[in-house]
Amino acid sequence: MSGVHSTPLAIEARKLEIGYRGEHTDVTVLTGLDLEVETGQFVCILGPSGCGKSTLLRVVADLLVPLSGQISVLGETPHAIRGRRDVGFVFQDAALLPWRTVRENIRLPLAVGRHSLTREVADKTDELLAMMGLSAFADRHPHQLSGGQRQRVAIARALLGEPRVLLMDEPFGALDEITRDRLNDELLNLWRRTRTTILFVTHSIAEAVYLGERVVVLAANPGRLVADIDIRPVKDHGNRCLREDPAIIAKMAELRQALERAS
Ligand SMILES: Nc1ncnc2c1ncn2[C@@H]1O[C@H](COP(=O)(O)OP(=O)(O)O)[C@@H](O)[C@H]1O
Ligand SMILES: [Mg+2]
Repeated sequence: MSGVHSTPLAIEARKLEIGYRGEHTDVTVLTGLDLEVETGQFVCILGPSGCGKSTLLRVVADLLVPLSGQISVLGETPHAIRGRRDVGFVFQDAALLPWRTVRENIRLPLAVGRHSLTREVADKTDELLAMMGLSAFADRHPHQLSGGQRQRVAIARALLGEPRVLLMDEPFGALDEITRDRLNDELLNLWRRTRTTILFVTHSIAEAVYLGERVVVLAANPGRLVADIDIRPVKDHGNRCLREDPAIIAKMAELRQALERAS
């Protein structure tokens, strides 16, 4: 499906219809979605509550089968690549197991199934603990952590399998603004080092512009793509910008207009 591209696109959707199958009728959530995401891109998905952002990520992660249309992830169907840990998922609430320590929670994806704990996994866990500033908290339980620390654990867990595509569903939505800004910077540093393809869902215009190289705007009723805005022209090559830069503020206004036009 990748046409002239030399490497497969990270995500490619064509005439995608997604929603939920009911006993009598299907409920369509997102309709007519065409989307191409290049490998290594940092894409934010912005839209009002209920427009289908989470539903879209579920389809990419093969947690939900589309109603119709095509979608490929890394050149294959979501189902084909599931289980290879090529796709990592971070949810809004960290979804940690309360009776397990930070270290055990990070290793969780490998504890389930056939993988035993190898030296390599142990080293990788230590590396992720250090990278996310969690080394001192490795033996604590989730209730002994702040909200920001819990989200760091969830990110470390998603990174354990070295995913090529990282799906993040409003991961910082429940955090205070200072913590959120700090985690935004940590995530950008991580992305610069790894150039993992990131699909980051948010309903914050400011967060979308700060993080993304590109922002895809969805609208509700019916859920559909209404704008696809390139942010790179107002950032440097490392995707860096100042939040108060007038060019960034202008991009935010452009996104706000796209959202308002659509609602
Ligand atoms: N399991 C489900 N079954 C039926 N409808 C659902 C289910 N999950 C979500 N929906 C509906 O799909 C729509 C989009 O939901 P969602 O993708 O969670 O939106 P967003 O993440 O953009 O806030 C909403 O109208 C929601 O009520
Ligand atoms: Mg959601």
